[in-house]
Amino acid sequence: TSNQMWGGRFAAGPDAIMEAINASIGFDKRMAAQDIAGSRAHAAMLAATGVITDSDAEAIREGLLTVLSEIEGGSFVFSTALEDIHMNVEARLKEVIGEPAGRLHTARSRNDQVATDFKLWVRDQFDAAEQGLLALIRALLGQAEAGADWVMPGFTHLQTAQPVTWGHHMMAYVEMFGRDLSRVRDARARMNESPLGSAALAGTSFPIDRHMTAAALGFDRPTANSLDAVSDRDFALEFLSVASICAMHLSRFAEELVIWSSAQFRFVILSDRFSTGSSIMPQKKNPDAAELIRAKVGRIFGANTALMMVMKGLPLAYSKDMQEDKEQVFDAADNWMLALAAMEGMVRDMTANRPSLAAAAGSGFSTATDLADWLVRVLGLPFRDAHHVTGSLVALAEKKGCDLPDLSLDEMQSAHAGITADVYGVLGVENSVNSRQSYGGTAPAQVRAQIARWKEMLA
Ligand code: ARG
Repeated sequence: TSNQMWGGRFAAGPDAIMEAINASIGFDKRMAAQDIAGSRAHAAMLAATGVITDSDAEAIREGLLTVLSEIEGGSFVFSTALEDIHMNVEARLKEVIGEPAGRLHTARSRNDQVATDFKLWVRDQFDAAEQGLLALIRALLGQAEAGADWVMPGFTHLQTAQPVTWGHHMMAYVEMFGRDLSRVRDARARMNESPLGSAALAGTSFPIDRHMTAAALGFDRPTANSLDAVSDRDFALEFLSVASICAMHLSRFAEELVIWSSAQFRFVILSDRFSTGSSIMPQKKNPDAAELIRAKVGRIFGANTALMMVMKGLPLAYSKDMQEDKEQVFDAADNWMLALAAMEGMVRDMTANRPSLAAAAGSGFSTATDLADWLVRVLGLPFRDAHHVTGSLVALAEKKGCDLPDLSLDEMQSAHAGITADVYGVLGVENSVNSRQSYGGTAPAQVRAQIARWKEMLA
């Protein structure tokens, strides 16, 4: 049998393989609610502009509500022969209301329909991501507030660098996720234009009101070029790029949590609720959620790359290639939201191991820079000379198997005769972090100021 939508031109129906490669209903049924919302807005506008009668519009409206409740109730039978969500809904509408259903597709094409549905779907996901990021940022602020002055080692090359505070480290992630939040908001604002009424590619000869459908669907305005509107998937690509950068942040943090929760570090204790055990090793408590968050970046980057590749060579306007946009975005969105929620849960539940953090903060010659700075400030040495003197003291301490504060004053003076006992004051990690008062520095007062700034912004 030939197709009920375009059967007029066709003598034969599709091969089974053609149907299999062509159909998108298996995944685009996730846009059912958006499809019906778009159709309702379109039908109401067609009636308002006199393109269809009010009674037809009313029948369409009622019928679409019936179809929606069938889909939501699980009784709707999706058909692969009907290819996609748009034709499944319209075909069922015809069964429910008869002739007026055939008027719904006036001044519309599946090309502007799918762009509209997909934008509405992606827009919801931007909103979900915003909520997920806000929750995660709040959890991080909670950790930062609790430990604004807890000392821990700061690393470069994963080698001990200088002491920092737990609050400072948490706030670094607040900045990162804060930029993600800002990117989400930017991208959402940019994409919020309605493609509906662009029709197949050229617009329509019917006297439609695109501003009316745009407003009904919560868009800021209609898109300004019909060719672009049906060809544009930038909103999906921006979603995937924003998701990719955020996933990269999540993955870096996840990696730190994996390291920090190890027996060798013991910086954090993850809650039982966000850990798993081993079937053979009774002592194990594994950071599986962190590992999976770290891994999910792979599929999100993959989706971004895949859709870039799909879009890169397409001539204007719509090509069927673009049907490959949805599965990538659906999968990336599902996993991004899950990763955000899992990270938020882990952060909220985790306990910083303050004694371990403090012990680690003092090891690894973490205050060597403070010693060099003291030589500059108090003895007036050029920084390069101070660096050299300090380096020789580090080498001495390393040889003796002790830390810098364990060296005697005699030993200190062997490196530079001018050193006095005052130097021990800067070798303590508390003094070290308290001295880092530059704007954005690790001093607890600075960290607290940043926490306050963020809380005010989020209030
Ligand atoms: N299922 C299609 C998609 O997801 C809908 C648009 C089809 N348009 C067309 N001209 N074949 O992109």
